[in-house]
Amino acid sequence: MKIAIVYGSLTGNTERLAKGVFDRIAPEHEKALFNIKDNPDLSDYDVVGFGFWVDRSFPFKAMKELISETRNKEVFLMGTMGYFPDSDHGQACIKNTVGLVDKSCNIMGYFICNGKVDMRLLERIAQMKPKNMGEEVFKKHMLDEKNLIKYKMLGEHVNDTDIEYCSARFNERVAMKAAIDSL
Ligand SMILES: Cc1cc2nc3c(=O)[nH]c(=O)nc-3n(C[C@H](O)[C@H](O)[C@H](O)COP(=O)(O)O)c2cc1C
Repeated sequence: MKIAIVYGSLTGNTERLAKGVFDRIAPEHEKALFNIKDNPDLSDYDVVGFGFWVDRSFPFKAMKELISETRNKEVFLMGTMGYFPDSDHGQACIKNTVGLVDKSCNIMGYFICNGKVDMRLLERIAQMKPKNMGEEVFKKHMLDEKNLIKYKMLGEHVNDTDIEYCSARFNERVAMKAAIDSL
C-alpha cells in the first residue's frame, strides 16, 4: 500500500508524533512523510495520515482545509492538544476533526494525545480575565498551583507511549485493510 503522512507543527509536538508513526510503518509499504508547508501532492497515495495540532477546538487552519478538500482516501487522523483528550473539550476536538472528512473517504481511525503547551501561550493565558471568558473557563485555564501541576505533567507529552500507541493503532488498521484487499 502507498502511505503518506502529512503533518504540521508549530512547536514540535505533532512533528514528533508524525515522524514516530512514520518510522514505525511496516517495511512492505511504500511511504512518504510531508510537511504541509511543502504543499504535498497526495493523489498517488491510498492511505493518508493527517498529523495536526488543535487550534481552538479544530485542526490548525491549513490542515483543516487539507482534510476537508481530500477525496477518496483511507484516512487516519492523529492530533496533539494542550488539554485532556478524554475531556469534553477533547471529545469535541475529535468530533470536529472527524466531521471535516469528506464522505468519499474512509476513516480508518484516529488518535489524539497531549502536547506540551508553549510557554508563550501559557503567558497569554496568565493575562486572561474571568470577565472576558466566564468564570468556569477561567478556572480551568488560570495558572494557579493546581493547574501548573497539570500543565507540567501534560507537558511531558508527546512521549514514547503516545507514539507507540498511535503507531500500533495505525499499523493495525493498515494491516487490516491490506488483508481485506487481498481477499
Ligand atoms: C493558537 C493556539 C490555539 C490552541 N488551541 C487549543 C485548544 O483549543 N485546545 C487544546 O487542547 N489545545 C490548544 N492549543 C495547544 C496545542 O494544540 C498543543 O500544545 C499542541 O501539542 C501543539 O502542537 P505543536 O507542538 O505540533 O505545534 C493551542 C495552541 C495554540 C498555539
